[in-house]
Amino acid sequence: MSSNFSFLYLFLLFLPFISLAKQDTNLITQAKTITKPNCQSKCGNLTVPYPFGIGIGTSCSISPWFDVNCNTSFNPPKPFISTINIEILEIKDNTLLTKNTSIRKYSRDPERFRFSAIPRGLQRFNATISSLNAHVRVSSFSSCGYAFLGDPERFRFSAGDLSDPGFQNRTVDNVPLVLDWAIGTRNCSEARNSGDFACLQSSVCVDSETGLGGYRCSCSEGYQGNPYLSPGCTDINECENNPCDENGICTNTPGGFRCACKKGYVGNGIKDERGCTAVNSQFPVIKFSLGISFGFLAVIIAVTVMYFSIKKRKIMQLREKFFQQNGGVLLKQQISSNETNMKSTKIFTAVELEKATNNYAEDRILGRGGYGTVYKGILHDQQVVAIKKSRVMDQSQIEQFINEVVILAQVNHRNVVKILGCCLETEVPMLVYEYVSNGTLYHHIHNNGGMPWFSWDSRLRIATEAAGALAYLHSAAAMPVIHRDVKSPNILLDEYYTAKISDFGASRLVPVDQTQISTLVQGTLGYLDPEYFHTGQLTDKSDVYSFGVVLA
Ligand SMILES: *[C@@H]1O[C@H](CO)[C@@H](O)[C@H](O)[C@H]1NC(C)=O
Ligand SMILES: *[C@@H]1O[C@H](CO)[C@@H](O)[C@H](O)[C@H]1NC(C)=O
Ligand SMILES: *[C@@H]1O[C@H](CO)[C@@H](O)[C@H](O)[C@H]1NC(C)=O
Ligand SMILES: *[C@@H]1O[C@H](CO)[C@@H](O)[C@H](O)[C@H]1NC(C)=O
Ligand SMILES: *[C@@H]1O[C@H](CO)[C@@H](O)[C@H](O)[C@H]1NC(C)=O
Ligand SMILES: *[C@@H]1O[C@H](CO)[C@@H](O)[C@H](O)[C@H]1NC(C)=O
Repeated sequence: MSSNFSFLYLFLLFLPFISLAKQDTNLITQAKTITKPNCQSKCGNLTVPYPFGIGIGTSCSISPWFDVNCNTSFNPPKPFISTINIEILEIKDNTLLTKNTSIRKYSRDPERFRFSAIPRGLQRFNATISSLNAHVRVSSFSSCGYAFLGDPERFRFSAGDLSDPGFQNRTVDNVPLVLDWAIGTRNCSEARNSGDFACLQSSVCVDSETGLGGYRCSCSEGYQGNPYLSPGCTDINECENNPCDENGICTNTPGGFRCACKKGYVGNGIKDERGCTAVNSQFPVIKFSLGISFGFLAVIIAVTVMYFSIKKRKIMQLREKFFQQNGGVLLKQQISSNETNMKSTKIFTAVELEKATNNYAEDRILGRGGYGTVYKGILHDQQVVAIKKSRVMDQSQIEQFINEVVILAQVNHRNVVKILGCCLETEVPMLVYEYVSNGTLYHHIHNNGGMPWFSWDSRLRIATEAAGALAYLHSAAAMPVIHRDVKSPNILLDEYYTAKISDFGASRLVPVDQTQISTLVQGTLGYLDPEYFHTGQLTDKSDVYSFGVVLA
């Protein structure tokens, strides 16, 4: 128990040493100029730098206190501090490692050397060790406690030490005592003003840390050498150690160095820092801008694609709307029901007809009538057709329009233009007819566009054919159809000059039990039946009147 406390005491005693000796270095002993000219620099293994000097009473040291007695009766010779006769083991920049840990002899000369120790300015050391419960009383050395001053870096305590009778002698031999040394007893500012300031050029003066006065000299940063010897500290050529990058250029400067990068390289040039990097491996301006450009391009493309797909969607929705508006559902029902013979009637899509008419090109226009424009179209199966684009359709007429498509689809007469189908996806419905190649009767009888004159026989035949078709429409069809716009421009002629009645845009269906219907007057003036014109009562006789005009 008691010995444990003693150990604690010992460690407390040693602890302060640790922070002391560590800071010291050996720079002076490594300097190029170590001693004054013609002075011995070595005693045995020890290098003795100025301000110390080997010899007693010579001018090799800065003052008698720094004289080193090199006793050559030992082999190798041993250096002693001549004034106090203590063996020197090592000389550092501000401390001495000495061998004899005896304090009595040393303490007589406190002016130049002090314990490098704590507390500051310690000049005497007398250790008395006692255990806390007074169980063991110790004066100098016992198996329970032992106190001494020494360099903590050279002492490693082990539990067996205290029971080892040779321990005391071993510490004296192996654990050096660390002494601070300083020049004089004046501090730096005092010494600078006196005539014998020891610090030469490129060095700094440092006050002694012991608090007992004195100073020492130290080379400025970037300089090396012995600050006490002429010419003082010299510049360190740092470039010899290649501190710069392999692509850098080193320039030594007083107290430092500069690194620059070769042409084509950038950086701070210092090896372990940013070094030098080739310019093109720097921030990749080109790649960066390319990346940005492609990024923008991608965004623009994406936005465009989105815009068009939205637009397309809207068009599709519009087409669907028109399809509903234009009675598409009704027509589909009619087509699918078995009652009507409409299986051959096709519902074309807007896209199909756009393609067929080369997007309603001007050169595809066959004619313009009162009810719309007729285009020549070529379907994808190369079938040539006529496509009639109606004018704006009255909502209320949709059902009738559908009925007309249905009726016309059922009309199978060689002198009536055959309807092939329709398209309801456009705002106005479009009708697809068989293509009739030889123009209209109007063109021929008015010699319009260089069409040949007809013989009387041909004219009679065409008249007969047209009359037959009208008669068929008025009576033979499932539900009578009044054409309502019979005129020579509406009688087409095919490659064999066979008449084909066309343009049922104004046509009306007449329920079987009615012979006349009231309508708004419609038709072409000149062909229009005056009676119908006045009463608005439409009968099949109106067509007959118009046909009479054609004959005339
Ligand atoms: C001292 O020098 C001797 C011979 O000159 C050598 O054997 C010994 O190792 C040296 N000791 C030290 C600590 O340098
Ligand atoms: C050298 O050391 C020996 C032995 O300690 C001593 O007798 C002698 O006087 C010393 N010589 C000098 C010059 O100090
Ligand atoms: C250390 O100093 C003491 C007292 O001055 C002396 O008796 C002893 O011989 C010295 N030991 C060595 C190794 O110098
Ligand atoms: C050390 O201290 C003790 C106790 O205070 C005292 O008796 C002794 O004389 C001192 N020794 C020296 C060398 O001063
Ligand atoms: C310690 O050293 C002294 C003198 O150097 C000697 O008389 C003594 O016998 C040594 N003690 C041991 C235990 O070796
Ligand atoms: C140096 O010593 C003088 C006189 O003792 C004192 O007045 C002065 O403050 C000291 N300077 C420093 C920096 O310690």
